[in-house]
Amino acid sequence: MLRARIIGTGSYAPEKVMTNFDLEKIVPTTDEWITDRTGIKERRIAGENQATSDLAFEASKNALKHSGLKARELDLIIVATMTADALLPSTACMLQHRLDAKKAAAFDINAACSGFIYGLSVANSFIQSGQYKKILLVGAETLSRFVDWEDRNTCVLFGDGAGAAILESTKGENGILSSHLHADGSLGDLLTLPGGGSRCPASQETVGGKMHYIKMKGNETFKVAVKILENLVTETLKQNNLKPSQLSSLIPHQANLRIIQATAKRLGLSMDKVIINIDRYGNTSAASIPIALDEAVRNGRIRKDDYLLLEAFGGGLTWASALIRW
Ligand code: ACO
Repeated sequence: MLRARIIGTGSYAPEKVMTNFDLEKIVPTTDEWITDRTGIKERRIAGENQATSDLAFEASKNALKHSGLKARELDLIIVATMTADALLPSTACMLQHRLDAKKAAAFDINAACSGFIYGLSVANSFIQSGQYKKILLVGAETLSRFVDWEDRNTCVLFGDGAGAAILESTKGENGILSSHLHADGSLGDLLTLPGGGSRCPASQETVGGKMHYIKMKGNETFKVAVKILENLVTETLKQNNLKPSQLSSLIPHQANLRIIQATAKRLGLSMDKVIINIDRYGNTSAASIPIALDEAVRNGRIRKDDYLLLEAFGGGLTWASALIRW
């Protein structure tokens, strides 16, 4: 049976660091509030001339180098993002051009924070069908451009960054063992960015009404997230006949440390098995899992044959998981 295996990872975070203390000067908040409620200490902010495809490009170069593949060998490029450079063309096409990956098809996925795992599932399906053999999957976001820097409810949460993975077709036992995708559009109003689409095209009113910024019902999202993630991790282990104790690492979406702790508790997993970097990056949406994965791989925390559980939830609402044997 064919399956996708990750043969290289890479990530990139913009140089500019914005700490909680920097935010104290912008909105009525404190380092203590942000740390206690979210676990975030600092986040990265894209430079003036950097857009999502620029971050994706840097992460992709690192992943390609790690994998030993050349961009021209790629069959497909998928970019998971909710902060594309523009509505048209896709960020994946911009990346394809920058990488000179002439042979590759290219498209974006928008499943908000679940985007990287949705992308893993799509990539795995292309590989299992035999259509493609070598795929670049990137999660990249420039959320700082879509955050209202006067809204303390949201601006303290998000950051910019990109993570990438190279997937290759394999016949062995290692690779993506299962993926689990879910959505509930009836909860779409928990996280929105209403302006600039076909419903509310850009106008003076949409700009004046701050409709081009992320709006979030944080507390409601929090409660839904804890519940759906409990079911998600249970479903994932059950399908693979695995016990939580057999997991080597949990790689959760980095949205809130308290949500991550609740999921680990549900699994009976000690926190030293959980990959966490929310303190340094905040919530980077689709980029959060591939950045955490890349750091863990490079730190030697992930070894061959390890069982990894990846899980995420986000706008849509969407939620998704994947079980990987490294
Ligand atoms: N600094 C100080 N006080 C604040 C801040 C801030 N930055 N933000 C909110 N507060 C205040 C609120 O105004 C409120 O004050 P009040 O009681 O006087 O009204 C109080 O703190 C508590 O607010 P809550 O919203 O109830 O706080 P909560 O404990 O729920 O924490 C948080 C808020 C961190 C946003 C949390 O709800 C959360 O993490 N939610 C999930 C977010 C998430 O995961 N989003 C999904 C992914 S994002 C995506 O898909 C793009």
